[in-house]
Amino acid sequence: MNKLRINSFSEYKKAYKESVDNPEAFWDQIAEQFVWKKKWDKTLEYDFSKPEFKWFQGGKLNITENVLDRHLQKNGNKTAIIWEPNNPFEETRIITYRQLHAKVCQFANVLKRNGVQKGDRVCIYMPMIPELAIAMLACARIGAVHSIVFAGFSSSAIASRINDAQCKLIVTANEVYRGDKPINLKAIVDEALKDCPSIQTCIVYRRAIEPTMMVGGRDRFWIDEMSKVDANCPATEMDAEDPLFILYTSGSTGKPKGMVHTTGGYLVQTAYSFENIFQMDKDDIYWCTADIGWITGHSYIIYGPLACGATTVMFEGVPSYPDFGRFWEIVEKLKVTHFYTAPTAIRSLAKESLDYVVKYDLSSLKVLGSVGEPINQEAWHWYNDYIGKGNCPIVDTWWQTETGSILISPLAGITSTRPTFATLPLPGVQPVLMDENGKEIETGAEKAEGRLAIKFPWPSMARTVYGDHQRYKDTYFSTFENAYFTGDGAYRDAMGYYRITGRVDDVVIVSGHNLGTAPIENAINEHEAVVESAVVGFPHDIKGNALYAYVILYDNFQPSEDLIKQIKEEVSKSIGAIAKPDKIQFVKGLPKTRSGKIMRRILRKIAAGESDFGDISTLLNPEIVRVIQEEKV
Ligand code: PRX
Repeated sequence: MNKLRINSFSEYKKAYKESVDNPEAFWDQIAEQFVWKKKWDKTLEYDFSKPEFKWFQGGKLNITENVLDRHLQKNGNKTAIIWEPNNPFEETRIITYRQLHAKVCQFANVLKRNGVQKGDRVCIYMPMIPELAIAMLACARIGAVHSIVFAGFSSSAIASRINDAQCKLIVTANEVYRGDKPINLKAIVDEALKDCPSIQTCIVYRRAIEPTMMVGGRDRFWIDEMSKVDANCPATEMDAEDPLFILYTSGSTGKPKGMVHTTGGYLVQTAYSFENIFQMDKDDIYWCTADIGWITGHSYIIYGPLACGATTVMFEGVPSYPDFGRFWEIVEKLKVTHFYTAPTAIRSLAKESLDYVVKYDLSSLKVLGSVGEPINQEAWHWYNDYIGKGNCPIVDTWWQTETGSILISPLAGITSTRPTFATLPLPGVQPVLMDENGKEIETGAEKAEGRLAIKFPWPSMARTVYGDHQRYKDTYFSTFENAYFTGDGAYRDAMGYYRITGRVDDVVIVSGHNLGTAPIENAINEHEAVVESAVVGFPHDIKGNALYAYVILYDNFQPSEDLIKQIKEEVSKSIGAIAKPDKIQFVKGLPKTRSGKIMRRILRKIAAGESDFGDISTLLNPEIVRVIQEEKV
């Protein structure tokens, strides 16, 4: 019988072997440790060619009974969420499992009262406050599908996501501070809703006392709505394969992909991975610094930790406010034991004075985590030496919005770690490296490098792209036969340890944010002066990668600083500030193949300051390459 918790490397090896030899029996044993209203009839049915993946078919459950109700009897008074505000002088909020359960049920009743039913989509555009967690779990309570949009996205990005999923209701907040910057979320939502006919209701949490413009008939305050309902809300029975949420990620076309995650498999694998990777003790305090608007926040601030009955910290602010010691001040204050962040945050703090670190007592820390992008040697060592003091295993966790949960990672204190290696797959996960011909590179004593794919289904994988199954198939299942293509390249050493080397497609990971170059180009092309553009990533000390845009202007426009500003503004308006290019170079032409495709490989090299372009004679316009290189900004 496989328990939820693995306690040693030999147990890991045993569980891994069982999970490959007999995946269904393995996942049956794991899934049985959760609360089901009815047990499943069939563990797995799949077909890579459709592609279709069904886990725990016939099983009935509600995920909130697993993350909340299940803990009430023994651990009702245990802290579920510790909320740390942006402003250090504002009070920390402690929410127990019992209190969270009550609030979730109450807000679920608010949603029902406002006409939300099982299967309806609800957009959530909120800052990192407990009400965000309450709203998402309230959706899950009644079987509504949440679609959380990161509260840094622009109104047009919100509108396109709302329209894609035809959301019926949106939950937001009025004004919020991030660092010393006020952001009026409600005004951004108002702008978005001008183009969103499917939205009937907008519920506004009053985070700031500022007066708020409310639209009659559509907008309601959270507090007023809560006062009209009680806190009794039975959990709606969901099929294991019913959708739990949609989360958008960028891709190689302009339109974001709404990845659909379902209920049963997602619960089982986020909880299983959390339990084993972080190896928490009963009274430990876990803090993941991600935003709930990203998959890391969904799976490893809310669902995974709460399914395991952990105490999870939610932080509203930024690492640099009021100064660069904020993270460490919070670690000391809350006695955080498990700290999980992104390499970009580590790099940005490592470049500041060590005084910000040494001032605080970090002795509560036991485990450190990294996520979102490859962690470079320098960042790894700084994290290990100055934050972990050499005593805390670093779990470098590799996964994606699409995978739902972490697939490759050390188990803290169990798997021996090595800087820059995400190490070994979790039980139930079968990664493979593919060569240029799409052939699997066999595992063995040899080192290998190739494209990373997963050759067997896993429970928390996204099941489709909302409203566009063909795109799901084309993006992930058409590169290799009978395998999921991750879009990443990877290296595997003789011990079978994986190191992720980065994206091999048109996605660039900037400060841990997954950005498709196509939507950014579309936004730049919106400017009246622009004929065409090409965006690529280039190495950046802090962000990992930054964006470099090559832009062709119409003849009647002259390059200028003002134009650069306007183009950046265009990107900000269309997507959000995170997608603004760091560098913009005006060019007369772009290197193209004879079939008219932009040769991004060459543009990437120019942006990175390299000059070995290989054979460019087959290009339509090889002469442009040197010109662009000479005029590089
Ligand atoms: O390139 C990989 C990188 O982030 C991509 C997924 O981005 P997203 O869907 O936004 O999810 C981010 C949080 C899970 C991957 O294709 N990535 C993620 N984690 C790592 C990583 N690259 C290297 N090492 C990691 N630990």
